[in-house]
Amino acid sequence: MAGSGRRNFLFFHGFLLLMWETLQRTHAMPPSSPTQCNATGCTLSNIYGIWGDRKDCWVPNITYPTTEEELQSVVAHANRYQLKLKVVSGSHTIPKLVCPGTSSPGNAVLLSTSMYNSSVVVDVPNLSVTTDAGVSLRYLIDKVEEAGFSLVPSPYWEGGSVAGIISTGAHGSSWWGKGGAVHDHVLALNLVVPATESEGFAKIIRVDAQHPLFNAAIVSLGTLGVVSKVKLSIEQRFKRSITFNFSDDAQFEDEFVDHARRHEFADITWYASRHTAVYRYDDRVPLNNTGDGVYDFIGFRANLVMVSTTLRASEKAFEAARNVNGKCTLAATSLGYKKLIANGLKNNKFIFTGYPVVGYQGKMQTSGSCLYSSVTDTLSSCSWDPRIKGLLFYETTAIFPASKFADFIRDVKKLRDLKPENFCGLDIYNGFLIRFIKASGAYLGQTEDSVVVDFNYYRADEPSTPRLNQDIWEEIEQMAFFKYGARPHWAKNRNLAFSGVQQKYPNFQKFIAAKNQLDPRNLFSSDWSDEILFGKVAVRDEGCALEGQCVCSEDRHCNPGKGYFCKPGLVYMEARVCRYSPSSMA
Ligand SMILES: Cc1cc2nc3c(=O)[nH]c(=O)nc-3n(C[C@H](O)[C@H](O)[C@H](O)COP(=O)(O)OP(=O)(O)OC[C@H]3O[C@@H](n4cnc5c(N)ncnc54)[C@H](O)[C@@H]3O)c2cc1C
Ligand SMILES: *[C@@H]1O[C@H](CO)[C@@H](O)[C@H](O)[C@H]1NC(C)=O
Ligand SMILES: *[C@@H]1O[C@H](CO)[C@@H](O)[C@H](O)[C@H]1NC(C)=O
Ligand SMILES: *[C@@H]1O[C@H](CO)[C@@H](O)[C@H](O)[C@H]1NC(C)=O
Ligand SMILES: *[C@@H]1O[C@H](CO)[C@@H](O)[C@H](O)[C@H]1NC(C)=O
Ligand SMILES: *[C@@H]1O[C@H](CO)[C@@H](O)[C@H](O)[C@H]1NC(C)=O
Ligand SMILES: *[C@@H]1O[C@H](CO)[C@@H](O)[C@H](O)[C@H]1NC(C)=O
Repeated sequence: MAGSGRRNFLFFHGFLLLMWETLQRTHAMPPSSPTQCNATGCTLSNIYGIWGDRKDCWVPNITYPTTEEELQSVVAHANRYQLKLKVVSGSHTIPKLVCPGTSSPGNAVLLSTSMYNSSVVVDVPNLSVTTDAGVSLRYLIDKVEEAGFSLVPSPYWEGGSVAGIISTGAHGSSWWGKGGAVHDHVLALNLVVPATESEGFAKIIRVDAQHPLFNAAIVSLGTLGVVSKVKLSIEQRFKRSITFNFSDDAQFEDEFVDHARRHEFADITWYASRHTAVYRYDDRVPLNNTGDGVYDFIGFRANLVMVSTTLRASEKAFEAARNVNGKCTLAATSLGYKKLIANGLKNNKFIFTGYPVVGYQGKMQTSGSCLYSSVTDTLSSCSWDPRIKGLLFYETTAIFPASKFADFIRDVKKLRDLKPENFCGLDIYNGFLIRFIKASGAYLGQTEDSVVVDFNYYRADEPSTPRLNQDIWEEIEQMAFFKYGARPHWAKNRNLAFSGVQQKYPNFQKFIAAKNQLDPRNLFSSDWSDEILFGKVAVRDEGCALEGQCVCSEDRHCNPGKGYFCKPGLVYMEARVCRYSPSSMA
């Protein structure tokens, strides 16, 4: 009975995955707008449709400037009338960076750069490109490639805007040249900041590498002013050659340094429950190499709505039944599928036929085909589209000094070896994605060569709902941020990851000084930035640890009623995690 159920289940998933591949659409339902307005105002959400604290963010009005002058007049207006001002582009950022805050929501303006997105000017002799802040990464890349050049670094997701990407320190992966973080390739930017009445309440300052505010301005979390123009360096157009090597994970913590030094765009994906490390051999090759490949990453493709909702329903059923092995089956199926289709690499427009896959930089570096839409096609979408009840997950992204990373992995392996099945929930998503970025001068960037690890994991639909193996994810999170002092990626993470962040950046006070200089009346501050930048302590509610809003110190921060109590970690004893321990129930 159980065996045939399992076979049916496997068959069913195999069938779905096959449909996924064959029926994959080039067109899909466009992502919903992050803002929804009616006569009384607007609600703002992130791309996943839900904030860390599950509370809506409300603004009375949104303005859409289309020129730098209009942008300047919005800043002037806000400054003159003492309104809080926040900038949003695509709202692809998970924490509440774009929300003006709750203290006086009526006195806030939200400036969207989504219509300030047309100008991309390539400066050929100077190997640079200057763009409007709201230009999307994909549009920028296509324009640069058309002119015969390539943008070297970029996040793996092409949905962000140029200003949104640099403002949060977003990155791809490279230890070569200036490295994988986009802000380290910025040559100059324009910043629109509050000014005195005689200056007209707002002014534009040009910040280039010689400017004393440069290192504050390139990663600013939207808290210094509005970035209006960004000038980035570019190189002669080139191609890339990519091979994924699905290997045993026994030694990868001793090999990642060599791997990153040897390949310009190296990364590693670690599927801990499967004992598999996938090495990405990814190098630049001359234009005369044969190949017109595309990297259409599987996680960023449009999926049939039916596939996404079925996966979600399976996950929920396993959660409800506390069925870890069910999750393992799903993880094994999905890894097998990824191997079969090379994670979405295609040698031509349609299909993967074998390694290596060679293609133009512009088509290999970043993807997001689920973004493009035909409104008439409602059969497929991004798998996390909030309208379809598809995938819903948390995302933890920790940035380590390279010298500490191997010890972190050894600790995670100890935790894994206690019970590998506990890690299946991660491997249904993308395991641990390990990437590389170089030391940066940015005050809120990395001061040394670093390793970034991302992992996604199930989030419940309902608040305060305990999750299968959540103690494991919490322990890894606390190991990363507290034991090894990793820094949180600004655009990702649950709130607890940001605690103590002020002490983790040697130049943090220089950033605050720049903010005080440019925005003395804190127009660009919000609840989130006050909590993060100024360490304002947030309230510790019932169940706060379940949502990553706190680290538990009492059982009520977990959910004792459902058998989840605040307990020490298994490997990192100082961790405090919500663990299922029904025997603790009175
Ligand atoms: C599916 C997915 C995959 C991702 N993959 C990666 C990845 O591989 N690597 C990575 O590093 N990140 C990744 N990210 C994160 C993403 O790169 C960042 O969230 C980025 O900031 C999104 O840009 P946005 O234009 O949507 O910015 P928003 O979310 O709209 O804004 C982000 C921040 O920038 C500020 N901002 C935006 N525009 C301006 C402006 N003109 N002036 C001043 N401040 C401004 C906002 O106030 C806010 O603080 C991913 C996100 C998603 C959803
Ligand atoms: C406007 O939207 C808000 C929430 O987004 C809702 O509470 C309110 O009732 C809506 N008002 C109208 C007039 O539809
Ligand atoms: C919203 O802002 C725009 C321009 O900033 C203004 O013209 C409009 O009247 C405002 N609407 C509301 C409802 O406040
Ligand atoms: C600019 O944004 C608008 C609306 O978001 C979109 O319709 C348009 O295609 C974008 N333009 C470019 C050049 O990307
Ligand atoms: C290249 O940059 C230099 C110095 O920044 C500038 O003087 C020159 O005008 C630029 N060249 C072009 C073609 O814009
Ligand atoms: C894959 O990695 C293994 C070591 O883990 C190595 O022996 C093998 O040669 C690699 N394969 C390719 C195609 O490079
Ligand atoms: C590409 O061009 C270089 C020199 O221009 C040449 O040495 C090389 O053999 C060429 N490679 C291929 C694959 O044609």
